[in-house]
Amino acid sequence: MKFDSPAGNNPTDKQKVIGKPVNRIEGPLKTTGRATYAYEYTETEIKPAYGYVLGAGIALGEIVKMDLEKAEKANGVLHIVTAENAGELDTGLFYADRFLAGPKVDHYHQAVAVVVAETFEQARSAAALIEVEYKKQNGSFDLEASLGSAKPLEPAPFTPPSETRRGDFEKAFEEAAVTIDQTYTTPDQSHAMMEPHATIAKWNGDKLMCWCTIQQINWGVRDLANILKIPAENIRLISAYIGGGFGGKGTVLSDLVAASLAARAIDRPVKLTLQRPLIFNNTTHRPATIQKIKLGATTEGMLTAIGHESWSGNIPGGRTEAATTSTRILYAGANRLTRLRLCELNLAEGNAMRAPGEAPGMMALEIAMDELAEKLDIDPVALRIKNDTQVDPENPEIPFSTRKLVECLEQGAEAFGWSKRNPKPGRVKDGLWLLGMGVASATRGAPITKSAARVTLERDGTILVQTDMTDLGTGSYTIIAQTAAEMMGVSLESVTVKLGDSLFPESSGSGGQWGAASATSGVYAACVKLREQVAQQLGFDIEKADFDDSKIKVGSKTYSLKKAARKGKLVAEDTMTYGDLSKEYAQDTFGAHFVEVAVHEYTKEIRVKRMLAACHAGRILNPKAARSQVIGAMTWGVGAAMMEELVVDTRLGYFVNHDLAGYEVPVHADIPSQQVILVEDEDPTMSPMKAKGIGELGLCGVAAAIANAIYNATGTRVREYPITCDKLL
Ligand code: MOS
Repeated sequence: MKFDSPAGNNPTDKQKVIGKPVNRIEGPLKTTGRATYAYEYTETEIKPAYGYVLGAGIALGEIVKMDLEKAEKANGVLHIVTAENAGELDTGLFYADRFLAGPKVDHYHQAVAVVVAETFEQARSAAALIEVEYKKQNGSFDLEASLGSAKPLEPAPFTPPSETRRGDFEKAFEEAAVTIDQTYTTPDQSHAMMEPHATIAKWNGDKLMCWCTIQQINWGVRDLANILKIPAENIRLISAYIGGGFGGKGTVLSDLVAASLAARAIDRPVKLTLQRPLIFNNTTHRPATIQKIKLGATTEGMLTAIGHESWSGNIPGGRTEAATTSTRILYAGANRLTRLRLCELNLAEGNAMRAPGEAPGMMALEIAMDELAEKLDIDPVALRIKNDTQVDPENPEIPFSTRKLVECLEQGAEAFGWSKRNPKPGRVKDGLWLLGMGVASATRGAPITKSAARVTLERDGTILVQTDMTDLGTGSYTIIAQTAAEMMGVSLESVTVKLGDSLFPESSGSGGQWGAASATSGVYAACVKLREQVAQQLGFDIEKADFDDSKIKVGSKTYSLKKAARKGKLVAEDTMTYGDLSKEYAQDTFGAHFVEVAVHEYTKEIRVKRMLAACHAGRILNPKAARSQVIGAMTWGVGAAMMEELVVDTRLGYFVNHDLAGYEVPVHADIPSQQVILVEDEDPTMSPMKAKGIGELGLCGVAAAIANAIYNATGTRVREYPITCDKLL
């Protein structure tokens, strides 16, 4: 099915199941420990051996010699994979040798060897016996020190423009009555998802099967086939449950390659997980940014000049952190400039993490807006409302499909009690605690992409849905079941959903908050086909049919759904594809974040007291799951504002705090109260589901709202994240 004109009425509008806050259908499996994660499968007939990855001890240079002798003789050791015996790997899609170093080492903790043994402990202890002699090379590890080498981005698919302009930014900024010109920095951050990267790999002749943890099954098959130089049809990946990905499991990481190579070498299944202290430097992370924001406004607070430049670094061949993305669409203003620059660094690869680009970009822009509001003596909510736009400010001929930023700001302010805020910083006290409130806008793109599904009407009248979509804790199982239940007119309990197997039709996968809207639209398309088959079997006119309560009403007649499968189950498969509506309309999601903090007058300890998000993201398929996405994202925002930072050792070239003891993330006690308002919306330009993603919207802006609240509490403006006691002191 091709979606190329705005959706009219369709069976999902009934919202008998869709739009209801139903519980996660896979919830009981998870709360009772029966949902199977990658490392837990026991389906290999032969007991698997254990793999253990040894990471490089230098950041850049060469392996001169590797002495494997002691390790090979150690108890239980079956094999050691190195670049010398691994066979040729094709890493064309990725930078240099993403998966196995040797002789070249590209970054610290890049895999240099995979030890395979009978037990995990044997593999680990043997890995410690490997002696590697390196020849070190000097590298660049410090973003600030590397700014001189910054380059524009080479145009390429999926690469944002290196520069965008409209009007005469320089002149407008020069002539503006009130200006802000500030620099903000965000640090390197790690996904720190709960489930580590893990794979069980099993070969059967030239066929490879892997139980793994991956957000995009289709990318994984494609990339693993390229890397191992085997046909994609020889690979089967299963990733039915994922313990968090946050962008760090988009496609193949080193565990999948290491396990596959090891299993092939010993002709026996191998299970392998990256040990937590390896993950931070071995896999990907969010790159640090240095951002310069220049705003110019009239004395009434109308923006006349908006400038945003951002620098980030990456390993040669790595992507940029596109921090200017949100600035291109968020506020009106005739004169605009955004610019992205990339430096070469020899740290591990930077890549997608939790609203890549947009989250760190908003961390800067939304402090700058707070600074401007103060200079103008205008309420920061009012300033944002004044500068709303209903058309894409870079391309004014393109309207937003739906955009309720103003409603989010207004409804959020009302519910939060924003009017009680004292605009003068440092004035509100509760004993030894200084109290402050902050606000920020939220925005994030609403991409949608082709997605397929297979839907079966079983002979007992129940529905089976199969698609290779993943659920990384987001609620995919549930919203897909809701979609099929609504479309086929059955109860939620009558739907079984099978996900995360590359044998199933190819879905959108999970990333960039496109999963919910895309995958359910694929299921919609397959259900439309199945409904037609049912109509054909029972001989009624599909146009007049109402599927409800496991029956179909057509005029005065009623048919039983089950009857359509009396001669055998009915199977329908389809792919939802898209025309050009995303070019005719700017499709984005919007929101507003409000935060109250307390800062201790003497120690400067910061406590978040209350958070509220008002979000506008198309039709909400399941308010409970959507709220859960948003409160999770708000929690990321607390991490970004106050805790998360990979500390770079700029002499040795690696992230020092590479474990969960030193890399701090918020815990329950850090988050006393979170409120989410879902502002009503339906976007018929997206798909027949009229939905958009919401997971990453919930993050974009939060950290700045916290920073602004800290400023309101203390009068100290910190522009270098994370905001910690030492910086306030
Ligand atoms: Mo997300 S960082 O686009 O998986």
